Amino acid sequence: MPAFAPFTLSAPRLELRSLGPEDAPAVFKLFSDPEAMRYWSSAPWEQLQQAHDYIASTLAGYESGEHLRMGLDIGGQLAGVIHLYGFNRQNRRCEIGYMLGREFWGRGYMQEGMAALIDHAFRVLRLHRIEADIDPRNTASAKLLKSLHFVHEGHMRERWIINGEICDTDYFGLLRSDWLAER
Ligand SMILES: CC(C)(COP(=O)(O)OP(=O)(O)OC[C@H]1O[C@@H](n2cnc3c(N)ncnc32)[C@H](O)[C@@H]1OP(=O)(O)O)[C@@H](O)C(=O)NCCC(=O)NCCS
Repeated sequence: MPAFAPFTLSAPRLELRSLGPEDAPAVFKLFSDPEAMRYWSSAPWEQLQQAHDYIASTLAGYESGEHLRMGLDIGGQLAGVIHLYGFNRQNRRCEIGYMLGREFWGRGYMQEGMAALIDHAFRVLRLHRIEADIDPRNTASAKLLKSLHFVHEGHMRERWIINGEICDTDYFGLLRSDWLAER
């Protein structure tokens, strides 16, 4: 992908925006919450430096075009993040990851934010396929993906070892044609 200039995407109740160094404390709050990190691919963060490293990697991603992280902003508050990564240029595919602060769960915010970014990914970035890899116990995440027309494509055994815990993976895929047919 080419470099990403800062941009915003608007949805009815929220805005997706680029992240900057000033977001480090809010990002730390998201990723240090053990409940929100229950099914994440790494342990909850313990140090603010991890948020600074995350922002540095985010800014490097904008520069290189290797990955794209957007902040989910609700009324001026950074409520979550959505990440497009693992871009494969030849096959025009990437993976998607998402994190929403616990106080915002269950109100359809992530569905709204992801719909805006997915639409951008297919229409503007011209991607062909988006993939998601989730812990099978993460019911909210599976429901969210299905509501966005992702298809469950497979189950992989013992794919992750997180903090010593061995976890399976459910794999979901969304094609550009699936998305455009539903919109
Ligand atoms: C997964 C996550 C993004 C869902 O965001 P959200 O904004 O709460 O999602 P929605 O409000 O659109 O809810 C999606 C569905 O899950 C349900 N849901 C929400 N929170 C739930 C929970 N804690 N347990 C079970 N179901 C839940 C909702 O009722 C909804 O189902 P419905 O469409 O049948 O009504 C959010 O819970 C989160 O960030 N969790 C922590 C990080 C994480 O696990 N990320 C995914 C890693 S793969």
